[in-house]
Amino acid sequence: MSEAKSRAGARRRNPDPAKREKDLKFYITTPIYYVNARPHIGHAYTTLVCDAIARRKRLLGYDTFFLTGNDEHGQKIERSATDAHVPSQKWVDKISGEFRALFDKMGITYDDYIRTSDERHKRGAQELWKRLQERGFIYKGTYIGQYCVSDEAFVEGKPGDPCPDCGRITETVREENYFFKLSAFAEKLLNHYQQHPEFVRPETRRNEVIAFVRGGLRDLSVSRSTFKWGVPVPGDPNHVMYVWLDALSNYITAIGFGAENKKEQEKYEHYWPADVHMIGKEIIRFHCVYWPAFLMAAGLPLPKSVIAHGWLLFEESKMSKTRGNIVRAETVIDVLGNDALRYFLLREIVFGQDGSFSFDALVDRYNSDLANGLGNLASRTLTMIDRYFAGTVPQPAARASADAAIADQARSAIAEFGRLFDDYQFSRALEAPWALVGSVNKYLVEQEPWVLAEKKDEASQSRLATILYTSAEALRVVTALAHPVLPDATAKIWSQLGLGTISDLNLAPLKWGELPPGSRLGKIEPVFPRADKTAVERMKQMEQDRSTPPPTSAAPGPADAGSAKPAPPAATAATSDGKITIDDFLKVELRVGQVKFAEKVKGADKLLRLEVDIGTEVRQVVAGIALAYEPEKLIGRKVVLVANLAPRKLRGLESNGMIVAASVGDEGKPVLAGFLEDVPVGAKLK
Ligand code: MSP
Repeated sequence: MSEAKSRAGARRRNPDPAKREKDLKFYITTPIYYVNARPHIGHAYTTLVCDAIARRKRLLGYDTFFLTGNDEHGQKIERSATDAHVPSQKWVDKISGEFRALFDKMGITYDDYIRTSDERHKRGAQELWKRLQERGFIYKGTYIGQYCVSDEAFVEGKPGDPCPDCGRITETVREENYFFKLSAFAEKLLNHYQQHPEFVRPETRRNEVIAFVRGGLRDLSVSRSTFKWGVPVPGDPNHVMYVWLDALSNYITAIGFGAENKKEQEKYEHYWPADVHMIGKEIIRFHCVYWPAFLMAAGLPLPKSVIAHGWLLFEESKMSKTRGNIVRAETVIDVLGNDALRYFLLREIVFGQDGSFSFDALVDRYNSDLANGLGNLASRTLTMIDRYFAGTVPQPAARASADAAIADQARSAIAEFGRLFDDYQFSRALEAPWALVGSVNKYLVEQEPWVLAEKKDEASQSRLATILYTSAEALRVVTALAHPVLPDATAKIWSQLGLGTISDLNLAPLKWGELPPGSRLGKIEPVFPRADKTAVERMKQMEQDRSTPPPTSAAPGPADAGSAKPAPPAATAATSDGKITIDDFLKVELRVGQVKFAEKVKGADKLLRLEVDIGTEVRQVVAGIALAYEPEKLIGRKVVLVANLAPRKLRGLESNGMIVAASVGDEGKPVLAGFLEDVPVGAKLK
């Protein structure tokens, strides 16, 4: 079956009209991801969690709608396009294409993919604005304060202060903006949290939100007038809507809010309010304070729940482009397959908490639970049925206590898995069917069907039939339960069991004992080949290759020397007499930067990780100057940065530029280049 066809099958609605009642509808969303950089495994995580939930809901008969997409407006995106020297629309088309291609490669069964640059979205967002304005919740004022471009958030603090959420340097904004009367909603929000404890999950996040609102809400600036990359404010084209108001409205615009077409409007009426907005914990305030306040103000229903999960950490910190500690989902998929990534993240990470990603843990988990666990159970059971019963599921005879124990364990696995999965406790949910896999593998070893197969008497043959039926039925139960988590492998096992297309499965009545004896097995193929020792190394190498751009003419430094090298930088081709032309030199973009943050790089004596403000953005640079400079003393210091150097990774950290330094003495001690007069941050050197 083609990938697209199987995805369409997985998305298929329940054909029974009675099951398509509104109370059996389920609308789930991911955050819409920024297109300032390529997707990584953190984005894949939220998306695959939602995909697993959506798949299970469909199998349970819910009329399910699963939305994902991209957040394409705002200053951050505009700047990333400028840095890439590409027009904004072209840039967002490119990166959005990469997100969508990844989700398609992952077999994500989204029902719609919203982009905030879509016309339908702009129309809907403007409709929301008009409602807020008509109902008297928007007024004009002047915003003077700090703005964090990375978080696209107005924050408290003085000029030069770091952002209280992400620690990056904020920018001072003074603009005539439109404001939203957020302050009018504090009481209403607190009442809502009180009356609907399920609105914010888990409990710890709910407490955080309540404390934030109790701390007082100030009116929120909801437009920007110093750049143009956004949805124009209706009736005032000098302003664009604040990117979070624009972005949050995707959850209603995608399903037809503000559409002219009647069918689209009905879709909105049918699916809204959303059942689940799934998000990472860092964007809880936007979803649990601003979004419900906007909806209340517009007179629209509120989503039923916002679920905030923790962060995937790599090398002990949150994966992010700036830190350069990113793992790509493609790497895992290319080496171990889609199911391995999904299973590992759902089984290994306690949902809601931060969890570490490591290639070693991934391969261990893959081998123990998938190759040796489910894969082994499937292949030995199916191969024995094939060999001893000519590929036909045998009729079981009287059950012994060992068989009954497996049946009982399967029944409780069905109940436990459902209860825990539907409570978003994925890791614990998966324990039950995998404990069953373990028990059945053990049962086979104890019952020794291969020994019975040698004996041709009736009693041995009927015992053999019962054992293999029991084992195959347990395999069917685990396969059905695990399908939303392991869609590819379970589809194969299902058809190998002779049961047809798994997406036609109805999970609601899943019961022990329904594998029809006499059904013919399909073609038997292994589903989880064991990963050998080289898998970890191969994945690490692929990450390295994916993050290291093709070699440029810049002279590579020794691994630990970092991005601080004696001036002038050897970045251009030489003429025959060894000299470079002025054009060659002008290819090097040298800028004045200011160190905003500096720290030692763990495990590397010579390296410092710096955050350097170069006027248009704050860059992470890894510099080999730790033996000559204390990190604390560098903060605030102006430096010269080679700003157009291709990024490279040092000790897993991405370095975006090179600090210029003299190399002094035999030891080559670095001495930073600087200026006697004061120079503005961002000034170019030529
Ligand atoms: N554009 C906003 C969201 C607007 S929603 C109306 C945004 N985009 S984002 O690209 O930064 O994506 C953030 C989301 O991606 C997180 O909330 C989380 O769902 C996911 N993750 C990104 N990095 C992650 C980890 N390292 N770990 C877990 N999830 C991560 O914020």
